[in-house]
Amino acid sequence: MIDLDFQIVQQLGYIFSAMLFIYGLKMLSKEDTAARGNLVSSTGMFLAVLVTIVEIINPLLVISAIVLGGLIGSIFALKVKMTSIPEMVALFNGFGGLSSFFLAWSEFNNLTTSSLIMLITYATVIIGGVTFSGSVIAFLKLSEMFKGGNNFLNQASRWFLIFSLIFIAIAALQIVVSSLGIYSFNFEIIQQVFIALLIISILSGLAFVVPIGGGDMPVVISLLNSLSGIAAASAGILLTNTALIVAGCLVGASGLVLTLIMAKSMNRTLYNIFFVGYESSGSSSAEIDGEIKPISAEDAYLVVESARSALIVPGYGMAVAQAQHVVKELGDLLEENGCEVSFGIHPVAGRMPGHMNVLLAEANVSYDNLLEPKDINPKMDTVDIAIVIGANDVVNPSATEEPGSPIYGMPILEVHRAKTVMVLKRSMASGFAGVQNPLFFKENSRMLFGDAKESISKLVAEFKD
Ligand code: TAP
Repeated sequence: MIDLDFQIVQQLGYIFSAMLFIYGLKMLSKEDTAARGNLVSSTGMFLAVLVTIVEIINPLLVISAIVLGGLIGSIFALKVKMTSIPEMVALFNGFGGLSSFFLAWSEFNNLTTSSLIMLITYATVIIGGVTFSGSVIAFLKLSEMFKGGNNFLNQASRWFLIFSLIFIAIAALQIVVSSLGIYSFNFEIIQQVFIALLIISILSGLAFVVPIGGGDMPVVISLLNSLSGIAAASAGILLTNTALIVAGCLVGASGLVLTLIMAKSMNRTLYNIFFVGYESSGSSSAEIDGEIKPISAEDAYLVVESARSALIVPGYGMAVAQAQHVVKELGDLLEENGCEVSFGIHPVAGRMPGHMNVLLAEANVSYDNLLEPKDINPKMDTVDIAIVIGANDVVNPSATEEPGSPIYGMPILEVHRAKTVMVLKRSMASGFAGVQNPLFFKENSRMLFGDAKESISKLVAEFKD
C-alpha cells in the first residue's frame, strides 16, 4: 500500500516536472521571459531528480555523483570564456549521449528476454555512442584544434558508415530471429555482437562528423543536440522513467526542428550535408579582382557620421572581441545623429544557434531592430552604410556569385549591395569556412583593421568629442 502511494506521488512529480519543462521551453521563446524560463525548466529537472532518488535504497552514491558532477560542471562553466560556450555546449551534448550509452550498456547485463527491450538497448547504445564521439569531433572543429579530414579520410569515413549500417542491421536481425524462435544464438555470441556494437557506435560518430565541414557545422551541432535527446528518451524507456522520456523527447524534437531550420537557412538539404559534403561541389579557384582599401578610425567616423541609414552586421568576431556593448552604444549614437539603425542577423553567424541574438540581448538591443537576410536583402540598395563587425562567411558574395565556391548557394546578408560597406576585422584571415571573401576587394568596401571592440570604441569616442 505504501509502495503504491509512493508510485503515485512519483508519477505526479514526473507529470508536474514535465509541465515545468514545457512551460519553461515556451518562455525561452521571448527575450524578456527567457531567463525565468530557464529557471522554471531547471526547477522541473530538480523535481524529477528528487522524486527519482527518493526511491533509491542507498541514495548516498547518487548524491555523491550529483555533487561531484555539479562541482566539475560549475568549475568548467565558471572558467569557460564566453567565446567558448559553443564548444562547451557541443561537449554537453556529447556527455548526454555518453551517459545514455553507459546506461544502456549496464542494462544489457540485466536484460530479460524481451526482444523489444533488447532492440531499444541497442538503439540507445548506437545513438548515445554516435552522439558522444560526434560531439567530441564537433568540439575539436569548433575550437579549431581539428580542421577536418582530407579526401581519403572523408571517403574512408563514408565507407565505414555503410559498413556500420550493415552491421547494425545484422545485429538487429539476430535479435528478431532469436525472438521468433527461428534460430537460437547462444548468449556468448550475442554478447560479442553487443561489444562490437559498442565499439562501432563510437567509431561511427567519428566517421559521421569528420567529413562534414565548412558552413555545415551548425546543422551537425543541432542534429547532435537532437540525438542526445533521442538517446535520453530511449534510455528513459529502458529505465521506465517518465521524466527522462519527456525531457528526451523535448530535446530530440526541438533539436530536430532546429536542424531543419538551420539546413533551410543554409539552403542545403540534409542529404547533401551528410552524404555529399562540400568537396564534391568543387573548390573556389576564382581570382579576386580589386584591391583592399584600409580606412582609419577618424575617416571611418566621417563616413558613418554622414549616413542616414545604417545596417550593423555582427559575426563571430564580435563575440571574440566582446564588442556587443560598444556596438549598442554606437547604434544609439547613430540614432541620436538622425540615422536609421538596424541589425542584420544571419541565422548561422557566430558559432551556435542564436549566438548573435544572445549577445545583442545581453547589451539590451531591442529584438524589433534585428532583421533576417530575407527582410533586409530586398532593401539593401537603400542602406547608406553596412558596418560588418567580425562577420565574414555570412557576408561572402561568393555564396551568390561564384558557382565553384564551397559556400555557393548559402543565403547571405548581401551587404556588398549597400552604398558603402565598412568591414571591421583584424587581418585578411578567412572565416570558419576557410574561403576568401571578395567583399573586401569591392569598390564600395573599406577595411577598418583592428580588434572590433577597440575600433568601435574609437568611433564612439569620435562621436562624443
Ligand atoms: P566567420 O566567417 O567565422 O568570421 C569571423 C571573422 O571575425 C574572422 O574572419 C575574423 O577575422 C574576425 N575576428 C575574429 N576575432 C576578431 C576580433 N577580435 N575583432 C574583429 N574581428 C575579429 O564568422 P561569421 O561570419 O559569423 O560566420 C559564422 C561561420 O561559422 C559560418 O561559416 C558558419 O557556418 C560557421 N558555424 C556557425 C555555427 C552556428 S550554429 N552559428 C556553428 C558552427 C560553425 P580576423 O581574424 O582577420 O580578425
